[in-house]
Amino acid sequence: LVVPKPPVEPEEADEGTKKVTIFFGTQTGTAEGFAKALAEEAKARYQQAKFKVVDIDDYAADDEEYEKKMKKESLAFFFLATYGDGEPTDNAARFYKWFSEVGKERGDWLKNLQYGVFGLGNRQYEHFNKIAKVVDDLVAEQGGKRLVPVGLGDDDQCIEDDFAAWRELLWPELDKLLRDEDDATVATPYTAAVLEYRVVFHDQADESILENGSANGHANGNAVYDVQHPCRANVAVKKELHTPASDRSCTHLEFDISGTGITYETGDHVGVYCENLIETVEEAERLLNLPPQTYFSIHIDKEDGTPLSGSSLTPPFPPCTLRTALTRYADLLSAPKKSAINALASYASDSSEADRLRHLASPAGKEEYTKYIVANQKSLLEVMAEFPSAKPPIGVFFAAVAPRLQPRFYSISSSPKIAPSRIHVTCALVYEKTPTGRIHKGVCSTWMKNAVSLEESVDCSWAPIFVRTSNFRLPADSKVPIIMIGPGTGLAPFRGFLQERLALKESGAELGPAILFFGCRNRQLDFIYEDELNNFVKAGVISELVLAFSREGPTKEYVQHKMAQKASDVWNLISEGGYVYVCGDAKGMARDVHRTLHTIVQEQGSMDSTKAEGVVKNLQMTGRYLRDVW
Ligand code: 2AM
Repeated sequence: LVVPKPPVEPEEADEGTKKVTIFFGTQTGTAEGFAKALAEEAKARYQQAKFKVVDIDDYAADDEEYEKKMKKESLAFFFLATYGDGEPTDNAARFYKWFSEVGKERGDWLKNLQYGVFGLGNRQYEHFNKIAKVVDDLVAEQGGKRLVPVGLGDDDQCIEDDFAAWRELLWPELDKLLRDEDDATVATPYTAAVLEYRVVFHDQADESILENGSANGHANGNAVYDVQHPCRANVAVKKELHTPASDRSCTHLEFDISGTGITYETGDHVGVYCENLIETVEEAERLLNLPPQTYFSIHIDKEDGTPLSGSSLTPPFPPCTLRTALTRYADLLSAPKKSAINALASYASDSSEADRLRHLASPAGKEEYTKYIVANQKSLLEVMAEFPSAKPPIGVFFAAVAPRLQPRFYSISSSPKIAPSRIHVTCALVYEKTPTGRIHKGVCSTWMKNAVSLEESVDCSWAPIFVRTSNFRLPADSKVPIIMIGPGTGLAPFRGFLQERLALKESGAELGPAILFFGCRNRQLDFIYEDELNNFVKAGVISELVLAFSREGPTKEYVQHKMAQKASDVWNLISEGGYVYVCGDAKGMARDVHRTLHTIVQEQGSMDSTKAEGVVKNLQMTGRYLRDVW
């Protein structure tokens, strides 16, 4: 049973007290952190005002309530991240859908609202900060008064700097609105405190009690599993998909979900909480200079139960040893954020190290940060190793230095019609040399590659997992033609689609045509699931398998080149009402495939570019052109 969270009631502001609502739509916690940081600083600056930070999903139970409450807001800020193919975060999806459908017919119903929007995105992607831009425009269209231009946070560089710059634009506006007219004093300079959990150390003897405690974040027995309540699942099968001659690796993994209550649909994603490698963990232990067996718990309240000051702390993980905490909960290999560097500076005993760290974290150190951290792809551990005197205590390390290790999402590569008790994942190994010569091993792909399956040992690997639904679905009518484009691991969801089509066919359904465009480097090296695909062709589940090998001949052959060669087939299927599906890399492949699709429509349909764009847009709007990209 899921108990719905009580909706957040709009607080009745006292006479003369201005109420400010700060909404966030967050996936990994950055937007939430910014929302809370803004609230903290604003509270310090404007003591007459009341600030409330709200998860935009918790704000209202339904559309009607959204409308009722939004109407009452007079000053609001929105922190909204954009994900995947220009999508909102999970917790902003319901709000976004409602708000973008409200339409102009309501007139200027938000005319009492003054607002600002800060977006979190990545410039490398096509739909850079789409959600923030759309919401910013929509609020204005519906009468809202924009206080500052929409902030376009770019995670490709330093998003903390973008936030800081946006905030500087905001203060003069808020000064006008929230400072007492007769208050002539200058605003008190504000420095954010370094976040810190309260830490309690436990005796080793407590271990068994604590390990079995109810706070275990991944215990089975929940009726609904989600990002906060993952379910422990064993690795039943693990296989390498590349041939031994390949110098890369791609893992096929099957999680056993029998008896867990987890269900999924073809096209869904699975979120996987993975673990850091022991070598990474040992390095962190060495750098922190703390014994791995240190048993501790972290708390966001004081001993008397009152909350710690600074409300931006992530909820604690269960009590455990330092080794476990570093293994499961700490992101040790991402580039450290400026706030993390600042926290390290506060604990550097060597003053020249402290100064250098402080400079890196400061607005003046922007260029230095870009050069030294971003361009070099420096990991947190690398930075800590270069500033050895900076040894933060446990409570600071987990609150301010190492972000929480996030789950990784994979397109499920099976169909429940064929594999009801298994979730299949197809995962390419991330193994790259960074500019400093460090070998970056992707946390989850490395974990999967090293996983021990139930076939190999009863003591097999397991991970906390959960399913995230998607709209990447086959047409309801199996006779409708489909075009699938998925090079590399972009094949994953299509393997699920094909399994589903096979099951449908076996149960007597009639199948429409299905073209699959698949691409890889070389038939002998990385043609994953080759036998299965050939079998799908034989079984009539794929009507045409089109292959592009990029490193066999003198020139690169990509899936979009093959699409261009098959332009008339592609156009015919689209004209018959067919669906187009693309899965894989968003920055390169999906963008190029999109252009090719546009050209095909334009040339085959004998129309001009604008008309072709309209046709492609329409396919998208009607759910006939779907993309699962990353
Ligand atoms: P490459 O590595 O030889 O460049 C799966 O990763 C396949 O996708 C590989 O054959 C890879 O080729 C290819 N690929 C790389 N960039 C691409 C792009 N922009 N469009 C389509 N395919 C691409």
